[in-house]
Amino acid sequence: MSQATIESILQEERLFKPPAEFSQAAQIKSLEEYQSLYEKSVADPEAFWGQLAAQELHWFQKWDKVLDWQPPFVQWFVGGKLNVTYNCLDRHLSNGRRDKTALIWEGEPGDSRTFTYAQLHREVCQMANVLKQLGVKKGDRVGIYMPMIPEVAIAMLACARIGAPHTVVFGGFSAEALKDRLLDAQAKVVITADGGWRKDAIVPVKEQVNKALADNGVPSVEKVLVVQRTGQLVHMEPGRDLWWHELREGVSADCPAEPMDSEDTLFILYTSGTTGKPKGIVHTTAGYNLYTHITTKWIFDVKDTDILWCTADVGWITGHSYIIYGPLSNGATTLMYEGAPRSSNPGCFWDVIQKYRVTIFYTAPTAIRTFMKMGEELPKARDLSSLRLLGSVGEPINPTAWMWYYRVIGNERCPITDTWWQTETGGAMIAPLPGATPTKPGSATLPFPGVIADVVDANGNPVGENQGGYLVIKNPWPGMLRTVYRNPDRYRSPYWEHIPPKNGQYLYFTGDGARKDRDGYFWIMGRVDDVINIAGHRLGTMEVESALVSHPAVSEAAVVGRPEEIKGEELVAFVTLESGYSASEELAKELKQHVVREIGAIARPSEIRFTDALPKTRSGKIVRRVLRALAAGQEVVGDLSTLEDRGVLDQLRAGT
Ligand code: WTA
Repeated sequence: MSQATIESILQEERLFKPPAEFSQAAQIKSLEEYQSLYEKSVADPEAFWGQLAAQELHWFQKWDKVLDWQPPFVQWFVGGKLNVTYNCLDRHLSNGRRDKTALIWEGEPGDSRTFTYAQLHREVCQMANVLKQLGVKKGDRVGIYMPMIPEVAIAMLACARIGAPHTVVFGGFSAEALKDRLLDAQAKVVITADGGWRKDAIVPVKEQVNKALADNGVPSVEKVLVVQRTGQLVHMEPGRDLWWHELREGVSADCPAEPMDSEDTLFILYTSGTTGKPKGIVHTTAGYNLYTHITTKWIFDVKDTDILWCTADVGWITGHSYIIYGPLSNGATTLMYEGAPRSSNPGCFWDVIQKYRVTIFYTAPTAIRTFMKMGEELPKARDLSSLRLLGSVGEPINPTAWMWYYRVIGNERCPITDTWWQTETGGAMIAPLPGATPTKPGSATLPFPGVIADVVDANGNPVGENQGGYLVIKNPWPGMLRTVYRNPDRYRSPYWEHIPPKNGQYLYFTGDGARKDRDGYFWIMGRVDDVINIAGHRLGTMEVESALVSHPAVSEAAVVGRPEEIKGEELVAFVTLESGYSASEELAKELKQHVVREIGAIARPSEIRFTDALPKTRSGKIVRRVLRALAAGQEVVGDLSTLEDRGVLDQLRAGT
């Protein structure tokens, strides 16, 4: 975050009370109601979560025990049996929502499709039966690498229906990145499409799948199920690749939901950490279902009349939780948009809101800052009066962007819920309940019931009011990750032992810095580890560094984030070259392209700086703090006595 942003946030004193008419009709109607719920939830978590689980979800078999916490490993609703798709689909067929719209989809070229709960149920059952025919059994992993089309939701739910954990890989990741994830997950089947539309171009997902699987690159993959979207010609590997529209012909729509144990894996979602390889975050059935259900209900204040549009891609956790599982479990109408704002149609988001009378709109600060830059005319030219609630997620929202969102998009009527959470947390953890919590621009406000959040120092001791520190969670919650797939040490150590446990008290380390103000409101300051947040997308610096050093010209690489007005941060890479190579514009371009090939366009460095050496300590550690200051054009301050060679710094300063 830039110095100016930090200062503006420190001076932020504005307070916005929920509008009275919003509160009256809200799920949680006042701050007092929130406070009493919160107190109850932390005084007796088992009673609190047990009661909600019984009230809000359908169970094939009730649990024996609400919580089994053997730090840092947890189980929720032990012995219970349920299926997330029963809660997301079947129960709505008999509770009056059979013909209610479950999913609205708007394609980028302007085509659209809608599915009622009955229709979505049918599609999901058919795809589940097709997956069975392809040999997928309970427990087998299925990779999903798709554009934003209804079949991505259908595919996820079809997997959940038969108990096959899905692992969705963002369609913008490269073939290499896809391959890494499929290998780690040992996926048996991959579901993809012949392409999808984004920014007036076709995203060639099938081509990337072909590359990832070439030369038996992922030996576990037996079949690829391909959805036809664009109709363009794609290579179909004989014996391996099959068209969905052909296989579904004549397939039964009868596929009872598999009874799953509460703790059976629902999905694995890869995310970036501080080491080179992405990690497979494991979420399980009951806890995730309940947590996304109840956060959707209370934070988005969902009612039967709502049309909820979360603009995230389903390849990220936000799409999993707030396009698919949370809204459908609540029987809401969820909207999915295939494309993105683009120069040929910069106002497309506002068109979608106007066309479908969207009531709840959930997006990222980077998008809001982009809209700000495009000007007020675009949203002002549309009828946005259907909106009643706005949400923000993915990165800190600066007060200026918050105010613009509030004034221009919400017309000073709609509360804003700034939701802080992570892939690991399953659902939102710190966020205002819009009918209850007064908001302050730039603050995610207060923890969700059942969540004990705090700001502590490196030893786990709480810091004072408005003092910066590490954001931690002090207790288990149902939506939390259970482990890192096939790597429990990567679960235990970075999350639960980063701050040494004391007297059996384990603190979940979020990797974020924060402060708490005099009202107990949380202000998230951004990552304090080697994870960078670019345009709301999480990237590990080590991941990008590994990509760079895999190029023959690169000897060493160090990547840091630099504050950027729209995207929050951008990547700057410091690179030393192997002998025989010399710095040039062309090489910088080539290296950027190389990172795109290895990871994807979201990881493209904004700048490559060639240098003869990197600043290191005597023990050989790269001093990133120095590089961060240099990248941002700031003075390098603080103790530099540990630097091995001060000359390196002078050279870097001179701007080689
Ligand atoms: C950041 C996305 C400030 C944070 C749901 C976190 C936020 C990382 C907010 C997780 C917010 C997310 N305010 N920062 N409202 N929401 N973050 O796993 O740094 O893609 O650790 O999950 O995004 O990113 P992830």
